[in-house]
Amino acid sequence: MKLTVCNGSPRGRTGNTEIMLNHLLAGFESIPQNVSERFHLNRVKDHPQAAEAFGRAEAVLIAMPLYTDAMPGLVMAFFELLQQYQGRANNPRLGFLVQSGFPEAAHSRPLERYLEGLAERLGCPYIGTLVRGNCEGLRVAPAKRNRRLFALLDEIGRDFGRSGRFDPALLSRLAGPERFPAVVTTVMKPLLRIGVFNSYWDRMLKKNNAFDQRFARPYREES
Ligand SMILES: Cc1cc2nc3c(=O)[nH]c(=O)nc-3n(C[C@H](O)[C@H](O)[C@H](O)COP(=O)(O)O)c2cc1C
Repeated sequence: MKLTVCNGSPRGRTGNTEIMLNHLLAGFESIPQNVSERFHLNRVKDHPQAAEAFGRAEAVLIAMPLYTDAMPGLVMAFFELLQQYQGRANNPRLGFLVQSGFPEAAHSRPLERYLEGLAERLGCPYIGTLVRGNCEGLRVAPAKRNRRLFALLDEIGRDFGRSGRFDPALLSRLAGPERFPAVVTTVMKPLLRIGVFNSYWDRMLKKNNAFDQRFARPYREES
């Protein structure tokens, strides 16, 4: 099987999506005769080339981080280029990977539903969507801390490389908790209020000289 892969992370090669794809595709390509080609959608000038590859692909995987409960804008821009293939015969089989910062898989489910509907509207046989939360730390943590996740991605890639489908049992293992039990949220709520979980994001905002604008509302109508 030849798999055409689009990485929809605005961080491109340096992001968590790329790390996950590396493990997934290592498993996929461990099956003889399986190959993949990869496009990075943060290189917007490559979108026409990626759309052209979509048009001749047998199977496509589009991977992305969850951004404000939705897809990143550059993924949406790429989807608009796929309209030319809507309803065409022999469209590629289409699957997705959505990974998020929040740990509960439930955050990604509305986007998953949208993506399934998109495959249907395009007329692409839907392979499924891999969902995983708690991924923001992947690019900063030592690899051994995430070895179980990486081994699971490798296994999913291998299984997909053999069968051409996503095994629902593996998908559910990957997704982890759908929602935390009430006892966990009860403990977390006061911690959230005092900003315990903000330090990592605050550091990034400061690094990007954006900390002072963290409550900005650029689209708010002035009253
Ligand atoms: C602008 C922005 C918006 C985000 N919005 C969400 C969100 O709504 N829900 C969530 O769980 N994670 C959110 N995240 C976290 C990302 O999904 C997470 O960090 C992901 O691992 C980033 O992947 P990448 O490094 O491949 O871009 C957001 C991150 C950024 C930078």
